[in-house]
Amino acid sequence: IRNLYLVRHGQTLYNQEGRIGGDSDLTPEGFEQAEALGRHFHGFSIPYVFTSTRKRSHQTAAPIRKGQTRCTVTALPDFDEINAGVCEHMRYEDIKNTLPEEYRSRQRDKYNYVYPGGEGYVTLKPRVDRGLKKALFLSGNAEALMIVGHQAINRMILSHFLFRRTEDVPYIYIPQDQYFHITSTQKKKLFEQIRFTG
Ligand code: G3H
Repeated sequence: IRNLYLVRHGQTLYNQEGRIGGDSDLTPEGFEQAEALGRHFHGFSIPYVFTSTRKRSHQTAAPIRKGQTRCTVTALPDFDEINAGVCEHMRYEDIKNTLPEEYRSRQRDKYNYVYPGGEGYVTLKPRVDRGLKKALFLSGNAEALMIVGHQAINRMILSHFLFRRTEDVPYIYIPQDQYFHITSTQKKKLFEQIRFTG
């Protein structure tokens, strides 16, 4: 990988309410974060941007694309956020109260826990790896590519480049006001975390 910019979507209505899953829009603050990303990356050359199929990912990518002269945006379902199955749309508090057994099992082993009717980090891994492979293939030998992903997705992608014990992967901090820049070639390995808002 020459330059991979790994961005998380901006704040959404569901983030604000503490709900998981769904397909909610960005909040005004989320749109501002997207605009700030657009300003930050203006002047960079990012010919390929990959999003998920979710609105929050598209809405975050839009201002970045606008700031580029040549940029192909491709939505890959492989980068859609973890499917929380029966817990989609719930707050963690709701899960704790209505499905306490599920809540406890997830706390015991977050990496291997799989939501009933949904996914877990362990089952997410092959699809994120597939998405990454597609993104690298589609961007050919371009100098840079960007992925506008989600919390669990970005944790998996980061763990692909940085060694992490599997049990730590679901706890990697993925802020919405910073992005990761990863360069990984035979000659050079670089990993930076950059804040793009004031
Ligand atoms: O469900 C969506 C979240 O972004 C994943 O977070 O694995 O820490 O619950 P979590």
